Amino acid sequence: MQNNILIVGSGAMGSQIGMLGALAGYRTTIQDISEPSLAAARDQLATRMDHFVAKGRLDRAEADTALARLNFTTSLEEGAADADFVIEAATEKLDVKRAIFTALDKAAPANTVLATNSSTYGSSKVASATGRPDKVCNMHFFNPALVMKCVEVVRHDQTSQETVDSTMELARALGKSPVLINHEIPGFVANRLMGAIRDEALHLVTAGIASHEDIDTAAKTALGHPMGPFELMDLVGLDVSYLIRMATYEETGRPEDLPHPALKALYEQGRYGKKTGHGWYEYD
Ligand code: CAA
Repeated sequence: MQNNILIVGSGAMGSQIGMLGALAGYRTTIQDISEPSLAAARDQLATRMDHFVAKGRLDRAEADTALARLNFTTSLEEGAADADFVIEAATEKLDVKRAIFTALDKAAPANTVLATNSSTYGSSKVASATGRPDKVCNMHFFNPALVMKCVEVVRHDQTSQETVDSTMELARALGKSPVLINHEIPGFVANRLMGAIRDEALHLVTAGIASHEDIDTAAKTALGHPMGPFELMDLVGLDVSYLIRMATYEETGRPEDLPHPALKALYEQGRYGKKTGHGWYEYD
């Protein structure tokens, strides 16, 4: 039984995963090394809860109770000390993640599962930085985490069945529909499907076959996707899409896994999508 959850990282993913924990009744700590990032997460989550209340999805008292279950700290050790389950959602840099997992391994109780939200790295890459590889797996949420139902639970060779079971159970308790991925594979399942569509969309736009706006419209109106591939790249972040692809290439060495030149160009221009105000589209 998990009572206390620690989320490492207070960006778009970490903060919303933390809110899911608090809404499901867990005492949830969100840790980040950046005070301003923690303050921004706190403000954004309060605004989200105001919206939930305005929509009638929660009453004011429930929203306030959930917000009160959230703690924010810059101390990993403090957050980990009584954590029953940890979800790491820090930056997608392997050296940073490995350092976090080593610190978590020292600070968290011996039975605590240490999961990573990484979409880039299979958890074996961080498990080897700990003395408890059997208690490490991926618990991969989708953006926006408060809304998207899928969570990919990915086991590596040494992940125990108990760790898989408790991660699936936690995902369900957070209101998600977890899918189990039995072997590490770059991109897991959903991002591989999305990547195939994105590659074709990038090919069509760079070959001048159709505009990115029209390709998005076709994806929505012909295929029923909630967003087109270009809108989705802007939502997820072109930096994230680029780095995932680079990591895949580094793992496979196959030239066809390199990021598409159009994606690389936007990445190099710092046009990361919604978060920078510019991507395929312009944002206010
Ligand atoms: N955070 C939290 N909630 C959000 C949100 C956000 N950033 N954006 C929208 N929402 C909520 C809205 O508040 C709204 O909830 P209410 O009904 O309670 O108001 C609900 O989502 C629907 O939003 P909208 O009506 O504004 O717009 P929409 O119907 O177009 O839905 C969307 C927005 C949910 C983002 C939808 O377009 C969608 O599902 N898009 C696809 C998203 C997707 O594919 N995500 C996967 C990305 S890949 C990834 O994350 C993995 C990775 O490894 C990189």
